[in-house]
Formats: sequence, C-alpha cells, structure tokens
Amino acid sequence: MKALGYQVIDMIVDHMQDIPNKNPIAKAGRSEMDWLLHEPLPEEGMEATKVLDIVSKTILSNSALLNHPKFYSFVPSPSNYISVLADTLATGFNIFSGAWTSSPGAAELELLTINWLLKLVGFPIREGGGIFVSGGSMANLTALVTARHEKLGEDFGDACIYFSDQTHSSVDRALLIIGFKKSQFRKIPCDEQFRIPLDKLKKQIAADRADGKQPFCLIANAGTTNTGAVDPLYQLATLCRQEKLWMHVDAAYGGGALLARQSQKIMAGIELADSVTIDPHKWFYQPYEIGAVLVRNHEWLAGTFRMNPEYLRDVKGNAEEINFYDHGVQLTRRLRALKFYMSVKTYGLGTFRRAVENSLTLAEQVAEHLKSKSCWEIVAPPSLAVINFRLKPEGFPSDKLDELNQFVSDQIISSQQAMLATTIIHGKKVLRMCLINPATKLDDVMETITLLEGFGEVFEG
Ligand SMILES: Cc1ncc(COP(=O)(O)O)c(C=O)c1O
Repeated sequence: MKALGYQVIDMIVDHMQDIPNKNPIAKAGRSEMDWLLHEPLPEEGMEATKVLDIVSKTILSNSALLNHPKFYSFVPSPSNYISVLADTLATGFNIFSGAWTSSPGAAELELLTINWLLKLVGFPIREGGGIFVSGGSMANLTALVTARHEKLGEDFGDACIYFSDQTHSSVDRALLIIGFKKSQFRKIPCDEQFRIPLDKLKKQIAADRADGKQPFCLIANAGTTNTGAVDPLYQLATLCRQEKLWMHVDAAYGGGALLARQSQKIMAGIELADSVTIDPHKWFYQPYEIGAVLVRNHEWLAGTFRMNPEYLRDVKGNAEEINFYDHGVQLTRRLRALKFYMSVKTYGLGTFRRAVENSLTLAEQVAEHLKSKSCWEIVAPPSLAVINFRLKPEGFPSDKLDELNQFVSDQIISSQQAMLATTIIHGKKVLRMCLINPATKLDDVMETITLLEGFGEVFEG
C-alpha cells in the first residue's frame, strides 16, 4: 500500500513540477479514446501498478492542464499541493460530513471555514451560515431553492426572476431544474460595461407588478464569466430592499477578488445580499470540487432542506450540533472544508491575497501592452483579471474580423502552445483571457501575443 502510495505522490509532484513544459491542451477525439480504453467489465483483477500505468498513459495524459501558465480560457484552475494532500486525507479516512455525530471534527471545520468566508463577504458571523457544495452550479441552485422557499413557498407560478444577459448559464439551468419556466426569467440586456442597467431593471419590475406578476429574486454578478464585470451591487441591494426582492450574488468566479485591495470598491455591497455563491475551486486555488453558498441567516438553509426522516432520528443531536445534511441537497458528503482549511493555514491568507493582487496587476499590464500596439483592439478592458481583445490590423475589412480572430484562436490551440478560446462580446468575436493563475507571468502572455500576431499575418497573407 505504501509503495503504491509513494508512486502516486511521485507522479503528482513530478507532474506539478513539469506543468510548464507540458502541453496545456487535450486533443484526443472520441474514437481515439474508445480505442485506448474500451474493454469489457473485468471479472479478474490485475496488478495495481499496471492499472496505474494504464491510467497514466491513457487518462492523465489525455487531460487539458487548466493549471498550465498558458491556459487562459474558461476559468483556469490553479490548484495547490497542500489541498491535494488534504483531499487525499479526506478520501483516505472516508469522512462522512453529513451528520455531527459521525464527524464532529468535520462539522466544526466546516463551520469554521464557512465563518471565514462569511467574514470575507461581510455577512454577520453568528446569524449567517453556509455550506460547501460541489461548485458554483450547485451553489447557485442551493441558493435559489432557499430563496424560493423563503420568499414564495410552494406557489411560484407568477414569480419573476431578474438577471443580466451576462449571467452564467448555471443560473438558467438551476431555475429550470427547480421548476421555474423560461417565461418567468427576466434577462435584462447588459449596458456598455456588461453590467445590469438599473433603469431597465426598475422598468421591468414595475411592468411586471402592473401585470399582476410577483417580482421575487434578483441575481447579481460579482465577476461575470465573459468579462469579469461586477454589477452595481450597492445600488442593486438598495433596490432589492425597496422592492422586497431576494438578492443573490453569483461571485463564483469573482469571490477571490474580495481578498485584493484593488477590488474592495467594486465588490462593495455584496455584504447586503441575502445569499452569495463563492467557488474556492476557482480563485481560491483549490482543486475541484469545492463551491460554497453563503446566506445571511443560517436558519434559511435548515428551513429549506431539513426533512427529518425516521431513520436519521438517532443522529439528529441538538440544535447546536449542526448536521450539514440538513443544510443542502446532499446527505452523504465528502469533507470539502479540509482542503480549504489546510491550504489557508499552511500558506496564510496573505499568500492568496498577494497572488490575487498580482493577477489583477498582470491583466492591467497586458492591457497596456495591447494598447501600445496598433493591431490590437481591447473590446472589454480588464475586470477582475479577465480581458477581452481582438486582432484588428489597420485597414483590415471589418466584416472579416470575426473570421481572423477565430483563425488565430484555432491556430494557437492546434499549435498546442496555449489555450485561448473565443467568446462573443457585443456581437464581436474576441479572444478572452482569464489571468488568475499565479504561475502565469507577463512573459508567458507576451509570447502568446507574439504567436497570435504571427498567425494573424498568415491569415492576412
Ligand atoms: C460566474 C459563474 N457562476 C457559476 C459558474 C459555475 O461554476 P461550476 O463550474 O463550479 O459549477 C461559473 C463557472 O465558470 C461561473 O463563472
């Protein structure tokens, strides 16, 4: 057991050290993977080291490296070694994090680490609460079930939900899962800065009220996926109070920015929300899967999710001793808090803070560089370390710019030098960089930009 374990640790450490020399992109198609892996269900076992070898050659080597310094797309995932070990411990001890009686240590740790997040957000510690879930999608779903329960009960046919057209698709999905119809969504087109416009929002709410509908919930963004935009949280919170709307803030991506001095102002107002999604597996450097939903009043979670089945009577305990199975969707839960705890204790929050601040600075430096060159257009300036830009050589036909930028993105991906996908901003196809990996240096980005310029010249030629 130990020899096999040491081998696994060696593989992980070697991999982590070698990431910058590896290819960030996974290219294998379905038929290739079928050919590599498909086999009948094995009746007989084989040596564990041989299985490890298969895994190494077929599965691990066919995975994109979202923590590669040149993986700029989606939300990169810069993990950390301490949390990897914490996850290993949590799995090795197979801790059941549902009931207090089965794991008081785990429950207390979740209370402690959720309190840390409550403090970061500015929610009240004693009244506030929260729970770790698999990620942002599950956190948004958990928050919206809670909002629906608290505000509407079981009768929600006339309710309307407000959010900008830049809101993450997990919100649409969560609303559909929990039984809202698309006709109840009020997706407000964003303004020039990709934020929800207050005037349009107010008009829509008024129109819905006049129509006999029930405005119920606003979902604000603190870091949109496309551009890192932050909605005007403070004004939205004021409006929500006036209109008696539940305010949920999706800070799944942007939550890490709460650490940085530069972003205190833009994030102000988040503390006035009713619920917040934050994903430690994004900008808090945690390996998958750890998301968090935080609520202003912890009783809302238990009030929504508690079921009291007869077979759990004996583990119910008292009100002080929290059973996290009462606070969310999952009964059987792994110990997610451990990696957050161990990594913050080991590195200190200051290390995370400096890393977030450096990423914000890096995005500004990249913007300065792009501005200094006439062939680039910045379509959305850096916000929370996300920047959107496109090649726009002087005199180049504007109706061919989308094609040009798709071409350079395709070329860089097939060269396997960097992962840089496109998105659509204000109807323009752009290159989107999310620069949250502390391993990404200005030189890495410069190299990538030079490569893109070269591909652009090939297209023009
Ligand atoms: C703003 C935002 N919300 C929610 C999510 C969904 O999070 P997850 O992928 O962890 O489910 C994402 C994912 O990128 C996101 O960027």
